[in-house]
Amino acid sequence: MTYRVGIVGAGFLTRHSLIPALRGMPDGRLAAVLDPDPQALALTSPAWPEARYTSDEDAFFATEMDAVHVATPNHLHEHFTLRALERGLAVVVDKPLAHTVASGRAIVAAGAAAGVPAIVGYMSKHNVYNREARRLVAEGAIGTPQAMVAARLGWRKDDWRSRPAESGLGCLADLGIYPVLTAIDIFGADPVRCEATAWPVHDPTRTDLYAQATLWFDDRRYLHFETAATFHEQPASAEVASYTVIGDAGIIQVSGAWQMDGTGALELCDASGWRPAARLTPVDPYRSQYELLARAAAGEPVPDEVSLARGLRDLEILYAVADTAAARAGAAAVRLSGGASLAEAR
Ligand SMILES: NC(=O)c1ccc[n+]([C@@H]2O[C@H](COP(=O)([O-])OP(=O)(O)OC[C@H]3O[C@@H](n4cnc5c(N)ncnc54)[C@H](O)[C@@H]3O)[C@@H](O)[C@H]2O)c1
Repeated sequence: MTYRVGIVGAGFLTRHSLIPALRGMPDGRLAAVLDPDPQALALTSPAWPEARYTSDEDAFFATEMDAVHVATPNHLHEHFTLRALERGLAVVVDKPLAHTVASGRAIVAAGAAAGVPAIVGYMSKHNVYNREARRLVAEGAIGTPQAMVAARLGWRKDDWRSRPAESGLGCLADLGIYPVLTAIDIFGADPVRCEATAWPVHDPTRTDLYAQATLWFDDRRYLHFETAATFHEQPASAEVASYTVIGDAGIIQVSGAWQMDGTGALELCDASGWRPAARLTPVDPYRSQYELLARAAAGEPVPDEVSLARGLRDLEILYAVADTAAARAGAAAVRLSGGASLAEAR
């Protein structure tokens, strides 16, 4: 049986990953693409000429299809997700769930009322190296995980992602989301408290370009990460996507597994020394999303890790990080472990 997907937004994600993923899915079909920008449609149509390409929202939603992938700037996620759900279509809404928590809540409420499968486009959850790290931790390969340190740095166009009204958060929700999602999987819990620094913070004209934060999962276990978006085209080597999980009986290091191509590397160190992970076969994470949605349409439950409710919870966490960074922006005394500020110590 064919699975027909309509995509809203003919931008980078659609051209680079979504259409190739549907091409790789034997039963996958691209039904239609909606975008107000004729140039974006023209750039996209050669990849699947048989699909309908339109700037007319009603024509798009009148197309016969099974699911809609919302791949627009974040402030439009709510509108198109609700429209698809109203039509009884399954939905992938790309990450982050929405530009604001209020908009995310509206999406979750609509999803709960619609009774059709809907997931967040968390490609990292489908990456085999991230899945393996989670499996190894769960089976006790490094003992009890104590801490995770991560970096997700990248470059972006200086476009809607820079504008709070369209993006919501900046690099925190675009790239920093990956360390947060992965740490929640590794520790098997949501964070309970955080410390954070970012720049700019709470600027109505510009989203965050850099952030670092420590998220505590209880009194002992934490994630520390940094994330940044630069706006100049840089070599692929400037992309950083890596994390280390330190347990009381070993270490796991993963690199590349938050990149979009499904690849990565994983190494494990325990009392017997360093060794690479067992050979893993990368999967296309975007194809894996469509296959999951098709199975959900056939009656399989949507896993909590990609549910809309999970997407909202993650967005709330990211906003808590941003709010914490904003609250502490400005000069602060450096406190030594004894509690004295640096100035007093001198
Ligand atoms: N899961 C991932 O790996 C991943 C990767 C990249 C981006 N994303 C997410 O996907 C979404 C799109 O990102 P992108 O990098 O493709 O952005 P982009 O700017 O390259 O593309 C967005 C497209 O949406 C179109 N658009 C604007 N208004 C529209 C409207 N009213 N109706 C239909 N289309 C409209 C734009 O014309 C543009 O072609 C964002 O939410 C982003 O966070 C996810």
